[in-house]
Amino acid sequence: MTWIADEIEARGGAVPFDEFMELALYHPEHGYYSSAELGYGRGGDYLTAPTASEWYSRIFARVLSFTARVVGPLRLVDVASGDGSFIAGVLESLGARADEVLADVVSVERSGSIRSRQVERLAQTSIRVGWIERISELKPAGESTVLHASELYDAQPVVRVVGRDGGVREFWIDVGGGAPAWSERPPREEVAAYFERQRVTLEEGQIAEANLAADGMHRLLLSAAGDCGLCLVLDYGYEARRLYDPRGRGGGSLTTFHRHRLGRDPLESPGKIDLTAHVNWDDLRFAAKVGEWTEVGLWPLAEFLVRAGLEDELEERGLGMDADLDAATITTRQEIKRLLDPEGMGSDLKVLIQAKGDMIDVAREALSIELGIRS
Ligand SMILES: C[S@@+](CC[C@H](N)C(=O)[O-])C[C@H]1O[C@@H](n2cnc3c(N)ncnc32)[C@H](O)[C@@H]1O
Repeated sequence: MTWIADEIEARGGAVPFDEFMELALYHPEHGYYSSAELGYGRGGDYLTAPTASEWYSRIFARVLSFTARVVGPLRLVDVASGDGSFIAGVLESLGARADEVLADVVSVERSGSIRSRQVERLAQTSIRVGWIERISELKPAGESTVLHASELYDAQPVVRVVGRDGGVREFWIDVGGGAPAWSERPPREEVAAYFERQRVTLEEGQIAEANLAADGMHRLLLSAAGDCGLCLVLDYGYEARRLYDPRGRGGGSLTTFHRHRLGRDPLESPGKIDLTAHVNWDDLRFAAKVGEWTEVGLWPLAEFLVRAGLEDELEERGLGMDADLDAATITTRQEIKRLLDPEGMGSDLKVLIQAKGDMIDVAREALSIELGIRS
């Protein structure tokens, strides 16, 4: 028996898919994110925007600088901070200005092994970085807060269902035959209620996933910012209407990653491969509504970077249109191209921006909404 079959056996021989995914990703010993070897990043299974190029953090640092000029030094909270690439990139970009822009930095990372790797990497920063394990440990502070989460929500366990007779049946993972295998059961109450709330009827045989905890997690996160906050969530996802449209994603969005290869079988090597499922942006919108936050925008990553000042940053660093085409300029442009790629990250990754209090107008200005660009 594999470790995960033993775990499922100990839980009665069958678990709903979200419980299986929780084990596969976060089991303290065997989970994908518990491994001493970092699964993602340059040498890993897949790239995120902060690990693909420091230009992501660099442009983000522009937004922080602009914001701090208006509301004063900020508390920056990076949730699901991973290997620390984002925080390291922001601090490096701000350089000597870091303590004018940031009052402090909080890094929230669930995995102990990833957290300790980060502590090592960020030991020498000029700004104090605090580490915590859970979002629930965050408390509102005196300073205006900027929350950032890159690929937090698509790394959470999801329930998996299939359309049957106008309703849904839920997928469980069964180890009756020794190895984990799919089985179908009537949906648990909360699963049926979720899909009813989305007002979508799945077609016969259509597969779909849902992160039932997303709304609650996002409410908790937003509440940590108090009354003056800006929240940027970078992730793969769609609004419910598109996420559950059978013409686009009849097979659901659950995907596996291993060595930059995309797969569809989450039962293949639990703990050794990444599992990810798209975010339903409506869940995060609902959380914002409850907390009286305002949506500033939901844009593809490329549009976010352009709005936040990518062109000016390139000019200021002598890398604009008139720059000499030496090797360094070409490498930089290739990196930026990856972030802007209309066939990849640039359009598939989206940035949801929500704000509260004085941050609403500041964010609109920082992201060129006042300048008449399409919003
Ligand atoms: C896909 S990686 C993204 C890392 C990083 N943000 C990036 O974009 O490079 C997801 C990370 O989220 C962490 N994570 C998952 N759930 C979390 C939670 N509830 N609180 C904090 N970190 C979490 C995982 O341990 C993992 O390091």
